[in-house]
Amino acid sequence: MGAAGFIEPEKLYGYYFLAELSLSGLIRPVPGILPLAILARDEEAKGLVVSRGNAREAAIVRELPVYAPDTLLECVQFLRGELLIEPQPETSVDPSRSSSPSMGADFAEVKGQLAAKRAMEIAAAGNHNILLIGPPGSGKTMLAQRLPGILPPLSFEESLDVTRVYSVAGLLSPEEGVLRERPFRAPHHTVSNVAMIGGGRNPRPGEVSLAHRGVLFLDELPEYAKASLEALRQPLEDGVVTVSRAAGTVVYPARCMLVAAMNPCPCGYLGDAGHACSCSAEQVAHYRHKLSGPLLDRIDLHVEAPAVPYSELRAPTRPEDNRWSSAAMSERIIAAREIQRKRYAGSQTRCNAELSGSTLEKYCALTESCHALMQSAMSRLALSARAYSRILRVARTIADLAGEDAISESFLAEAIGLRALDRPV
Ligand SMILES: Nc1ncnc2c1ncn2[C@@H]1O[C@H](COP(=O)(O)OP(=O)(O)O)[C@@H](O)[C@H]1O
Ligand SMILES: [Mg+2]
Ligand SMILES: [Zn+2]
Repeated sequence: MGAAGFIEPEKLYGYYFLAELSLSGLIRPVPGILPLAILARDEEAKGLVVSRGNAREAAIVRELPVYAPDTLLECVQFLRGELLIEPQPETSVDPSRSSSPSMGADFAEVKGQLAAKRAMEIAAAGNHNILLIGPPGSGKTMLAQRLPGILPPLSFEESLDVTRVYSVAGLLSPEEGVLRERPFRAPHHTVSNVAMIGGGRNPRPGEVSLAHRGVLFLDELPEYAKASLEALRQPLEDGVVTVSRAAGTVVYPARCMLVAAMNPCPCGYLGDAGHACSCSAEQVAHYRHKLSGPLLDRIDLHVEAPAVPYSELRAPTRPEDNRWSSAAMSERIIAAREIQRKRYAGSQTRCNAELSGSTLEKYCALTESCHALMQSAMSRLALSARAYSRILRVARTIADLAGEDAISESFLAEAIGLRALDRPV
């Protein structure tokens, strides 16, 4: 309209526009408004013009006037100064609203499983990926669903960061506003590579990006196609996914915690007190072998979640169980994260899970007696060098949860115990 002389070009300066224009001149909504609104704010736009259907989403962003004319004609009149359009009121951000399945679910509801809860707390405190191993019905899914609820609350900017992935994916309903809960995604093991990682002809974020700043839960880990698991490795390492297409590449954020679950063997009951396992040693080895390799390398913690005996399931909640309520766990996790934030301030590292090479050496120094313990564990369990660095990172987190500077033998021993898959079957 500017080029055709309907509007003086300088009246357009500083405005951003994103919508679909119908042949009749109606202005229609499109997905992906929030990222543009954030960009427009960062570039100090004079205003963002969107369809009425997108106005609420755009107005999540503060300090950006958002205008929503109904038609192209109204838009032109507005820009010429002939029609007054009031800016859209800022969308209120109600912290109690949520679409996450973990909302309201509390670790206190999971009976028994103290070792698994402790491991979840360590995982959340250091941002470590974790694998739960146990028979069907022991509560692995319950545990995983409660993880987003004990991670530190999202800041407003982090919420925007999460919401814009949903915006681009077209998964944000107009009423929803900004997402305040950490996401929880649980793609089925039949998920396609594109659905997991992102991509397609019109590229869309995959599950790993929809789980950004939240939890990606892979139930029955050995059932996933090897190719999907391998494809996850890079995003988990880099925190971003790069999707190529003919016209160039798209980068989506993908900084999530991975929680995986699996049975101890194909029938599910290896080591279970109540059921006999019907698998041969080869079947067990084959089943576990499916996991070997790159993805398992990204998982710092393996923990067993055995079946909970009936007596424990029916036992009433005792006062000491409060220690394992989501609120109590969350408090300890926030304190441990604060220690990491201070320790790593000004460096590339944000949390213990990211320690490697020289930072690992620097922050996870061991005393002589710890070295001796580590050495005997490594030869007894035939641990690899990779297992070694994973144990050190986890020991660092355990020390942070205890508020201690030094890694003691007991912290190290606990970390060594959290490598169930490294032990012989
Ligand atoms: N430790 C537990 N405490 C309380 N309820 C449990 C526990 N374990 C299992 N349940 C019950 O059994 C159901 C199935 O648990 P689930 O987490 O799906 O097991 P899994 O994922 O290990 O197969 C749950 O919905 C819950 O009702
Ligand atoms: Mg389950
Ligand atoms: Zn079995």
